[in-house]
Amino acid sequence: MSERRPYLAANWKMNKTIEEAEAFLGAFLPRIESGGPDVVVCPSFLALKSTVEHCAQSSVRVGAQNMHEEAAGAFTGEVSAPMLREVGVDAVILGHSERRQYFNESDEALARKVPAALAAGLEPILCVGETEAQRDADDTHAVLTHQVSTDLAEVGLAELDSVVIAYEPVWAIGTGRTATPEQAQDAILFIRNLVREREQGAGERIRIVYGGSMKPENAGELMAQADIDGGLVGGASLDPDDFAAIVAAAQ
Ligand code: PGA
Repeated sequence: MSERRPYLAANWKMNKTIEEAEAFLGAFLPRIESGGPDVVVCPSFLALKSTVEHCAQSSVRVGAQNMHEEAAGAFTGEVSAPMLREVGVDAVILGHSERRQYFNESDEALARKVPAALAAGLEPILCVGETEAQRDADDTHAVLTHQVSTDLAEVGLAELDSVVIAYEPVWAIGTGRTATPEQAQDAILFIRNLVREREQGAGERIRIVYGGSMKPENAGELMAQADIDGGLVGGASLDPDDFAAIVAAAQ
């Protein structure tokens, strides 16, 4: 494992009411010691405030799952970075494949969202990854190059360290089909080299995690790879025992 501090984020997607989020935290927080990996839980917008309050005495931080790039305005149904900061949110998932697929999230929008998040003091967790058809067509590197270069185009060198990149091959998300440690390592090293092209040191420092059917049984093997700094966990993060086991596998 490198000098980079491991990073584990729970992506709850459209799961857990406030009450269910509180029940999860009641079981999960006592199992997380400070000084370990960075741990972030990302509930629905409605559960953010209560989750921030419950995590206040712990080292666990809270993230949202999306945001709009403008600070305010006529954008019905949207939530901005300053609104997230106001309730104590520290991070935000951007460009998740479900948002790209079902809600037309574009790389052009992400090129504005990532700097907007950073400007507001939020840590962006930028998701990139290829579909099965793209992998079969040998397009994985081209897709990753396009996503990383476009989405981070407006991020200055000084801010790159505050970004976390999640490599999430679309074919592995929610399918039970995990990328092999070698596949995940290859893609993540490729992404790290893209960042190294901007600046060697930034490429060494930026944290790049894996997402896609990560679970207690495979987390240790994935995170043992030289360039995999942690995970963005969906299904397995809904269970406090499973997510705590994944966090434990990172130390
Ligand atoms: P999964 O989801 O762990 O359920 O595959 C990961 C994600 O979508 O971030």
